[in-house]
Amino acid sequence: MTVAVASVADSVASPAPDIRPETSQDAAAIEALLDHAFGPGRFAKASERVREFAPLRLELSFCAWEGERLVGVVRQSEIAVGGHRLIFLGPLAVDASARRLGAGARLVEVACAAAEAAGFGEVLLVGDPPFFGRLGFSAEATGQIVMPGPVDPRRLLLKRLGPADGTEVLRGAVAAP
Ligand SMILES: CC(C)(COP(=O)(O)OP(=O)(O)OC[C@H]1O[C@@H](n2cnc3c(N)ncnc32)[C@H](O)[C@@H]1OP(=O)(O)O)[C@@H](O)C(=O)NCCC(=O)NCCS
Repeated sequence: MTVAVASVADSVASPAPDIRPETSQDAAAIEALLDHAFGPGRFAKASERVREFAPLRLELSFCAWEGERLVGVVRQSEIAVGGHRLIFLGPLAVDASARRLGAGARLVEVACAAAEAAGFGEVLLVGDPPFFGRLGFSAEATGQIVMPGPVDPRRLLLKRLGPADGTEVLRGAVAAP
């Protein structure tokens, strides 16, 4: 009996979404997902000021799909701090119907791996420390980074990519690369 119940549960559970690089055709679905996830305050965030000047790296941005339905997105842009080029991650969103199944964490991990493969040594973002701390981000090395708008310094988080010898001191304003 137990076996039968488990197999029914397995058959109705959603498979993990398929994560693929963003393409130019995905823009409209992404806008709808972000509007829904962030609501009317979406464009008031300091991160949006960065995205106004930082070029989007489409090939380092990823979408999560359940069949034809977009259920998650993570975007990455290129920035410079004190002349050093790095990646700015965000926005990150998962549709409410697909949350708490690991898609958000997977999107961040895939995005960071792609940034590392592209030769970047750091990913910067503004986000919630309890969520991003589990994924290797911390505010330890961001105290001298100046965002183009007010940000709670506890939420300005950096992850170093690759070997632990990446100890570039990041100091200065977030600027276009
Ligand atoms: C944040 C978000 C992307 C997480 O997506 P997800 O697919 O549910 O993430 P995961 O399944 O990988 O992780 C879920 C875990 O993170 C926790 N979590 C989610 N958002 C969190 C937050 N803002 N702060 C702390 N923990 C958070 C969940 O409680 C859950 O914890 P559990 O595993 O102990 O149950 C999603 O909740 C979302 O789109 N939120 C609205 C937009 C947003 O806030 N984006 C991030 C900007 S900081």
